[in-house]
Amino acid sequence: MITLKDVKANEQILEFINQTDRAMDALSYTNHGLRHTGVVADRAMKIAKSIGLLPREVELCGIVGFCHDMGNFMSRTNHHYFAGLLFHQIFHDQFEAKEMAQIMQAIAEHDKPEMSFTTAIAAVLVLADKSDVDRSRVSQRNIEDIKKDIHDRVNYATTESNIKVEKEKKRITLALKIDTNFTPVMEYFEIFTERMAFCRTAAKFLGYDFGLIINKFRLL
Ligand SMILES: [Fe+2]
Ligand SMILES: [Fe+2]
Repeated sequence: MITLKDVKANEQILEFINQTDRAMDALSYTNHGLRHTGVVADRAMKIAKSIGLLPREVELCGIVGFCHDMGNFMSRTNHHYFAGLLFHQIFHDQFEAKEMAQIMQAIAEHDKPEMSFTTAIAAVLVLADKSDVDRSRVSQRNIEDIKKDIHDRVNYATTESNIKVEKEKKRITLALKIDTNFTPVMEYFEIFTERMAFCRTAAKFLGYDFGLIINKFRLL
């Protein structure tokens, strides 16, 4: 059975992610390379384990987390579909049909405007991906350049980002620490309201409420 370790060692997967990193950097986007995919894979597995998914499902969450953005090097638009199809091209018959379908669907669903889910793997991926806001995602090194772009400003101002699952309370909470000397919290909502709505829909599918805490204030 193919594991996350095998996927991480696959030369084509690694090159697609690295090429994505270069392509996103050229577009001045935040990091979509190995930093982001590694964080999303770890986070997806942590969430999956905490909500009690089976060990193989936890592994699949790690795999989709690692591969979800690798289609960006072909095109930012529709990158989620390209990534799903690329995954199939690389591993075609190395997964049983049901797992392959679930992986491809989860990858494709992570960025679709209409959020509807049929598997926990897809919902976990959305929570892990959309919650990755952090200073370390900012590719620009010059502070004056960072200040010019709202995505860079908000990510740079986010010095801590943790997602917590409370199984008994049926609540998944994203806690952020935002340096308000650098950007007002309002800017976070300007660009991330839709993402938080996606997280809420994903959490609801898993049977959880979604909570948001910024600088110790509970906003959701
Ligand atoms: Fe994406
Ligand atoms: Fe992503």
